[in-house]
Order: sequence, then C-alpha cells, then structure tokens
Amino acid sequence: MASPWWKVARSEEVTSAKPLAVDIGDQPVVLWRDAQGIARALEDRCPHRRAPLSRGCIRDNGWIQCGYHGWSYDGETGRLKDIPNMKDEQKFPPVYKAAAYAVAESGGFVSVNLDQKTSAPAPVAEQTFPLGGTTVVGLSQGEWIDALFDDPGLVLNIRGVQPTPYLMSELREEDGLLVMERFCQWGKLHYPSYATAEFPITLITRTRPDTGETEVVLRDDSFRTLLTAQLAPVQAARGVTQVRWRAKLGDELKGRHALALRRKGSFEVRDAVDAAALRVLIRSASHHGQQLRDKLLSAPAVSGPSVSEPSVPAPTISAAA
Ligand code: FES
Repeated sequence: MASPWWKVARSEEVTSAKPLAVDIGDQPVVLWRDAQGIARALEDRCPHRRAPLSRGCIRDNGWIQCGYHGWSYDGETGRLKDIPNMKDEQKFPPVYKAAAYAVAESGGFVSVNLDQKTSAPAPVAEQTFPLGGTTVVGLSQGEWIDALFDDPGLVLNIRGVQPTPYLMSELREEDGLLVMERFCQWGKLHYPSYATAEFPITLITRTRPDTGETEVVLRDDSFRTLLTAQLAPVQAARGVTQVRWRAKLGDELKGRHALALRRKGSFEVRDAVDAAALRVLIRSASHHGQQLRDKLLSAPAVSGPSVSEPSVPAPTISAAA
C-alpha cells in the first residue's frame, strides 16, 4: 500500500534562513531549503541526544545544525556531516543518521512522504494561487473534514457567503474523490425566498478520501467561478489539525456581492470553530461521506487523481483521520 504525500507547508514557509517544525500525526518533521534552494525534510530529532533539529540553524552550505552540541546533517541523506572539533568524517559513527524523507513541491505546497523508500517525483509546473495561509484548528483531521461536509461555514469563512443546509444532490464519489455541491446565499437574507429552491451560489468541494485534501469552488448561478481554494488538512500532534490553504478569485466577478470578494480577507480557514454550533450540528453529509470514504479506501487500489497535484502518487491510507 503506497504511503501518502502530506502537504505540510506552503512553499514560502520553507526557507534557508530558519528551520520549520511541522508534524504529521505524532511524527515531528523539520523542513528547510538547502544551498540549492531544494526543500529538505528530516525527522525532527537529532540522532545524538534527540534534541529537536528545528531549534538549530541552517549553515551556509545547506546542512542543518543541531542547536545542542552543534552536529550537522545533510538534508538529502540525513547523514552526519560535521561534529565541532572532529574533522575526520570517516570516524563519525554511522548510527548517527537522521531519517530523511522524500519531498515534493508544486502549486505552492511542499509535500512530504514518511515512507523512507519513496523517492521524490519529478517536479511539475503548476499554478500557485496567490492567496494563502496556515491555520491550526483544535479538532482532529477527521472531525474537521466532517464539519466541512456538514456545515462548511463552521470551518471556512468566505466573505459574505452563507452556506445553507441544502445540497444539490447527495454527496457522491466521482473519479475517486468525494464530491459535494451545497447551495449558498449572500449574507443572511435569501433572495428570492426560502419558498423556492433557487439559490444564487453553489459551493462545490472535491475531497481525497485518504489525505482529506480538498478543492473548493464557489460558483454563481451563471456558472461563473467566483473563487477556487485548495485545502490541505494534516493531522498534527496532540489532536490538532494544521490546514494549509491557497486560493484565488475568479477572473469574472459580477455583481455587488461578488465584487466585494476582491477586498482583502475574502477567504480564510477559521482557526476557532464555534463549539456550541458544532455540538448541535446534525450529522448529514459526513455520515454518507464516511461510508464512501471507507469504501474507496478499502478498494484494492486508489488511483484517482489528486485534486491539485496529478503528478504525486495517489496514497491509499487513512491513518490520520
Ligand atoms: S543533541 Fe544534537 S548534537 Fe547533541
């Protein structure tokens, strides 16, 4: 079973100036860019005394240096390259090797695969959406995705958009993704009225069953795209979820409400979920979504396309959910 690729950072978060600590479940990982600008990932534990490498620094030659006793490691292999005051590399005990992980980068996201036998795919040119952010939410990844299915407004904030409880059709599977189309309205007022089934906007989500990566498309009733967003929820340590996201507005915004999306802050992932609203939220789409997800993940092979990275191998596990 292939190991999943987790989008653990936005490209701009990974630099050669400072290590970045992330985690995938309980596995701590440190990211940085080496002297060639290539993103590297090691287990965030120094093989010497297990100090977090992310507390150290990046040397001019691209090695990461532990902040405790100053040992330095190469990002591509995890090999120990330098010990202060010991210059003969041949004498370095081979046991002191950090776990190195494959890194892929495209579309403005940095992805890591925890299977050390996996190698990085060839880079692909992919459009990077201009808006972006990283949000830490006090829910597990599975709970966050369930909330997204049952009431996207609890976890996403799209300026002026109010998701309704009404789906265009039942959540369904399409090309290996979980697809939901939910009616929305502008603000709290509905026009023309609740007595009709006509809504001015539709929110479409396409979710990978294994990693929970989701593409969000907001569309008006003339089928114009108002906004597209990519969400990458990754289970982090201690039961919280880190959601990296990127978004872009549609090219053809028409109408007062749609034009208001241009203002700063048109889209965000909420860092605080209304617990009182969540408590009384009726399980609807998420119930069906879980059944579909289980079915897709137990299939012999998941070969559906990534919602945003067709070149990255399709993973087949649900460990973080
Ligand atoms: S703990 Fe990292 S060099 Fe000693």
